[in-house]
Amino acid sequence: MKQNCLSTWMTCLVLTALLPASLSGAGPEPTQADASTRPKVQVLVAYYSLSGHTKQMAQGVAEGIRRVPSAVAVVKKVDEVSKEDLESADAIILGCPTYFGNIPGKMKLAIDDWNWRMKVDFTDKAGGAFATGGGRLGGKGHVVTSLLLFLINNRMVVAGPLYHNPKGDGKWAEAGAAALTGPLDPGVGKKELDAAARLGDRIARLAKKLQSG
Ligand SMILES: Cc1cc2nc3c(=O)[nH]c(=O)nc-3n(C[C@H](O)[C@H](O)[C@H](O)COP(=O)(O)O)c2cc1C
Repeated sequence: MKQNCLSTWMTCLVLTALLPASLSGAGPEPTQADASTRPKVQVLVAYYSLSGHTKQMAQGVAEGIRRVPSAVAVVKKVDEVSKEDLESADAIILGCPTYFGNIPGKMKLAIDDWNWRMKVDFTDKAGGAFATGGGRLGGKGHVVTSLLLFLINNRMVVAGPLYHNPKGDGKWAEAGAAALTGPLDPGVGKKELDAAARLGDRIARLAKKLQSG
């Protein structure tokens, strides 16, 4: 009896293997085409940088964006951003150095033109901001707030990086990401790049939520 059962089962197995997947009832294998038809979230990272520190932070932000499934990062210098880049972005993250406690003039001129000259509609795109500065209290926070105000005034929905306390269940957010680059702590450090990546991750996730809502 056991022998009969086994041979019937073996015949079944061989037949199932020979049948096309569509007739055997097995679901189709996921293909490359399936992945490409999944809705993508495009996040534009637009930055101004003369000596490279802010560019490094922009790359950290992009790394965080790419950690989010189906999110795509487009990194551009602020003066090279086109109207098409802005219109096809689901989210925009702005970054620049601190100049005299404020946004560098060239950054401000470029982003003002996005509204004033290009007439882009930013309504309900997600947004975030980051800054670098040579001084500990040189104005990085003010620059992040000013960039966020630009986004809010253009009807965007803004957020900052998220943190979780590894020793407890506490979590918190910050207004944006920043790096101190001057003589007191030269260059862009690991923790500052981590903040940048968290910002990219958060904004890409927020854009996905806004897209599906
Ligand atoms: C003209 C100028 C003004 C600056 N003013 C400030 C300032 O007010 N506060 C500050 O913290 N850093 C200031 N810095 C330092 C830069 O913000 C800092 O070096 C920044 O990381 C440079 O970014 P980048 O390497 O992307 O060009 C100033 C730098 C320049 C060139």
